[in-house]
Amino acid sequence: MVNEWRVVDDYIAERLIAPAERQAATLNANAHSGLPAIDVSAPQGKLLHLVAASIGARRILEIGTLGGYSTIWLARALGEGGKIVTIEFDPRHAEVARSNIAREGMADKVDLRVGAALDVLPTIEAEGGGAFDLAFIDADKANNAAYFGWALKLSRPGALIIVDNVVRDGTVADAATKDDGGLGARKLFDLVAAEPRVTATAIQTVGSKGWDGFLIARVKG
Ligand code: SAH
Ligand code: DHB
Ligand code: MG
Repeated sequence: MVNEWRVVDDYIAERLIAPAERQAATLNANAHSGLPAIDVSAPQGKLLHLVAASIGARRILEIGTLGGYSTIWLARALGEGGKIVTIEFDPRHAEVARSNIAREGMADKVDLRVGAALDVLPTIEAEGGGAFDLAFIDADKANNAAYFGWALKLSRPGALIIVDNVVRDGTVADAATKDDGGLGARKLFDLVAAEPRVTATAIQTVGSKGWDGFLIARVKG
């Protein structure tokens, strides 16, 4: 099925996403440097961009940079003076991301932090760097619940928190799953279900990246 889904993703991108938006150079640089091709798809990147633009996001938090593909989609939605803080564990990924972000002219909008997110997030808090309008969580799936807790802590009322990869081939709905992603997603859903400060949904997706989905939560207030 994934091949048919890819054809439709390509069709969507060709019709609705301008060549300049598609970031071929970023994806080429990632492949050339041996980064795994696990960036969001072009239609998904554009969705993140549209959401960020629609809420007039000025401060964005991203957990899991990889080569900066999603970072650049989000950064392009920021107005004058806007910033995206993005956290990446692997220094090799971060180096590739830095170069991609600079090539796309987004260096002044991106604050890239290298380290394990659970170590970096407390320093962002200590710097008084909270009050994010939008958070995009897309790192190691086992920590998704912990990352959601941090995103909530660092968000302003009315903010959106989007979590990638919460369906993982349907394993999320299997109570007996041993899949790391499925287990991480189940923990996240339990946390969100019990969290009165947010209201949320999740959307399954198919496409060039297979069968997966996003969780989208809005911080009440
Ligand atoms: N958001 C990117 C894809 C991210 S892939 C895009 O769509 O373009 C997941 C990334 O999370 C990888 O680069 C991986 O190195 C990073 N990662 C894994 N564990 C992490 C951790 N504990 N803290 C921060 N980043 C982590
Ligand atoms: C995979 C996909 C992702 O979007 C991600 O963030 C991590 C891993 C994957 O398909 O393995
Ligand atoms: Mg992802």
